[in-house]
Amino acid sequence: MTALKNDRFLRALLKQPVDVTPVWMMRQAGRYLPEYRASRAQAGDFMSLCMNPEFACEVTLQPLDRYPELDAAILFSDILTIPDAMGQGLYFETGEGPRFKKVISTLADIEALPIPDPHKDLGYVMDAVSTIRRELNGRVPLIGFSGSPWTLATYMVEGGSSKDFRKTKAMLYDNPQAMHLLLDKLAQSVTSYLNGQIMAGAQAVQIFDTWGGNLSAAAYQEFSLAYMRKIVSGLIREHEGRKVPVILFTKGGGLWLESIADAGADALGLDWTCDIGDARRRVGNQVALQGNMDPTVLYAKPEAICTEVGRILASYGKGSGHVFNLGHGITPEVNPEHAGAFLRAVHELSAQYHE
Ligand code: CP3
Repeated sequence: MTALKNDRFLRALLKQPVDVTPVWMMRQAGRYLPEYRASRAQAGDFMSLCMNPEFACEVTLQPLDRYPELDAAILFSDILTIPDAMGQGLYFETGEGPRFKKVISTLADIEALPIPDPHKDLGYVMDAVSTIRRELNGRVPLIGFSGSPWTLATYMVEGGSSKDFRKTKAMLYDNPQAMHLLLDKLAQSVTSYLNGQIMAGAQAVQIFDTWGGNLSAAAYQEFSLAYMRKIVSGLIREHEGRKVPVILFTKGGGLWLESIADAGADALGLDWTCDIGDARRRVGNQVALQGNMDPTVLYAKPEAICTEVGRILASYGKGSGHVFNLGHGITPEVNPEHAGAFLRAVHELSAQYHE
């Protein structure tokens, strides 16, 4: 394997010294980039990009070619590949987001769900990881990812995106045993899926708990965090002679940072609703932090973007342990030049916080 030319992302996740604060953007390959829209048109649709390793590799590298400041690449795929591999039949309705042909509603449905084999059932993702790793040729580390069991369960039970998670919450309170069986099957599936990505070449992994923040404090512990903890304890933590850092991102998890920090991961992703300096004081030395600029700041002019980057860097303060990111994914309406101004500002303004 080629040596890494830029490892400041991995170093910051392990709180090792860096020259400047590393940066990447959630959803950095996506619709705000004209080159992404062109590749998607060529492939036919979004899932065809995901299922073809050459296309997945091409779009993963597009933001890196455009922005030399990016310190990490993230696998181009989707969190809903797992329910698809469990037999639910994922499809995307234009303008409507993800949908499933088969929805999970009863205990019998859950009992019938298989645990996917990453190589047999999700081989296209493993191939995408190894293809991207080869093409990156050591430029920056590659991040693998998965959804959290709770976040995946919301899509599986609702049959797609939802505003209120009516069916999933009803199942959680009416039939907690059924919900626990579903989450347990998902935790097993996610563990072997992420381990497959690590063996195929992912150098760090992130668990997206996009909807954990929608739970009550008690339900978050029992139905989301407990399963992420279980996954983290089953992950391969060292590969190719290097630590493989794990990042947990619960959107809306700001009230529970102490307990999330205790789940065994190396880093926490923060959304923009908490102050990163406060978060640092609360989690102490236990984990690194990733985040947390409000993605809508990118609608403002470059000058305002730089001011906000400077404010977040100052709030975190001196020393390693911070990976700069947005507090959630970049949106399709963002001007690509504004994203470039954001990335440059992070490197330019952060040198003063490192020795
Ligand atoms: O960060 C990256 O660049 C990696 C790629 C990535 C995608 N989805 C590509 C994608 C990642 C990490 C995801 C994760 C994902 N997928 C999440 C959790 C992430 C988060 O932001 O919290 C969720 C909830 C999903 C499910 C999903 N996939 C939805 C709800 C949608 C529709 C969203 C929309 O805005 O229409 C998708 C589609 C999707 N996944 C797109 C991309 C680039 C857009 C598809 C297109 O090109 O039309």
